[in-house]
Amino acid sequence: MAKIKTVYVCSACGATAPKWQGQCADCSAWNTLTESQPLAPQAVRSAGYAGSVGDVRRLSEVEDQPEQRIDTGLTELDRVLGGGLVSGSVILIGGDPGIGKSTLLLQAGAVLSATLSTLYVSGEESLRQIGLRARRLGLGDVDLNLLAETCVEKIVAEAVARRPGVLVVDSIQTMYSDALQAAPGTVSQLRECAAQLVRLAKLSGTAVFLVGHVTKEGVIAGPRVLEHMVDTVLYFESDAGSRYRIVRAAKNRFGAANEIGVFAMTDQGLKEVRNPSAIFLSHHSHAVSGSAIMVSREGSRPLLVEVQALASDTSGNPRRVAVGLEPNRLVMLLAVLARHGNIPIGGQDVFINVVGGVRITETAADLPLLLAVLSSYRDRPLEGVGVAFGEVGLAGEIRPVPFGEERLLAAAKHGFKRAIVPRANAPRKAIEGMEVMPVDSLTQALELAAN
Ligand code: TYD
Ligand code: MG
Repeated sequence: MAKIKTVYVCSACGATAPKWQGQCADCSAWNTLTESQPLAPQAVRSAGYAGSVGDVRRLSEVEDQPEQRIDTGLTELDRVLGGGLVSGSVILIGGDPGIGKSTLLLQAGAVLSATLSTLYVSGEESLRQIGLRARRLGLGDVDLNLLAETCVEKIVAEAVARRPGVLVVDSIQTMYSDALQAAPGTVSQLRECAAQLVRLAKLSGTAVFLVGHVTKEGVIAGPRVLEHMVDTVLYFESDAGSRYRIVRAAKNRFGAANEIGVFAMTDQGLKEVRNPSAIFLSHHSHAVSGSAIMVSREGSRPLLVEVQALASDTSGNPRRVAVGLEPNRLVMLLAVLARHGNIPIGGQDVFINVVGGVRITETAADLPLLLAVLSSYRDRPLEGVGVAFGEVGLAGEIRPVPFGEERLLAAAKHGFKRAIVPRANAPRKAIEGMEVMPVDSLTQALELAAN
């Protein structure tokens, strides 16, 4: 038998090197190479991740059964999953420690166990701890099967014997495979354990939830390969100290990516927030400067979100800090404001915060962000603006964004009476109770806001 050679695997990017070195040649991270054995021959998979080696078939012959969706009992979770849980799918849930991953899955598992056999495997907590938590959540009397185990082969054997409809593995970093000698949590272990569980899901039709730890940069610890292997990747987001939790689909083979579900952590576990717009507005008793309301569309629903800005005279190098928005985009937008809006913002520190801990990824935030900055700079509230959305181009033009009309309808429903929008987003039919002010350029928008 050929001698198994040791390789060194980077725990940040998964690259391999034949020798140990201080810095990973691929991703330049320091001190991330760890010794690892390549997969032992018996562990080398002959089947793909999906577990099947099939015959060639014509696309038209492939059965087009719509996938069955299983209700998790939490409508916000169903929403991020794309309308419910799909049998045989693998979902990876990442988030900071203590954010509520185990709580969410215990609650969903308890509801699912009423209709499907459900197995909750924990490698982090004892059965007693899980029992205590379940009782605190008011879930004492449910048909959920629990197992404290960290060996993935034993978990797979248990799942093959019991054929559960849903399997929860909390967390993938604590699992190890007998086929490898590396410690749990190392890249090779993560890859092998996840591959075995993905294969189990695809062959048996069991839906599998994997809990993943995140690094301090906020990505799932271990190589990106984990995210490639699963069907859906969900991330928990939250403001420090806030009781609201946002679950976002970073990837979803069965639904829209970027869909968000909003929960509140209470003393009885996670509760869904039915009208999330309410928590992203801070409800000032009177108009304040530096605040603008945008209509964002994260995922498939419009959300009203407050963007706050503070511009103040700088001492030294101006600082630009954005929480909840892309910092590089902020720098670019401020340059556009200086050039096309004639606002000498270069001598100001600018701080941006999106209320409620939600992260806005779409460019529709550009215009409200600049309006908030302007308002803070002039120290005058945006009285007659109501809501705003629109992308700002480098030439100072305001570009349309998708779903303009839907955003306006949502704003009208929340009682807003005026809106500044890109011209192409102005609705063809007037919206009752809503005065729409279409603009082509940043200059026009700033004039409207100044009145
Ligand atoms: P947990 O689900 O254990 O987090 P994770 O698995 O992501 O590490 O959540 C634990 C936190 O949630 C802990 O700080 C206490 C809080 N919590 C509540 O506020 N209410 C509850 O009902 C429960 C079960 C937990
Ligand atoms: Mg946990």
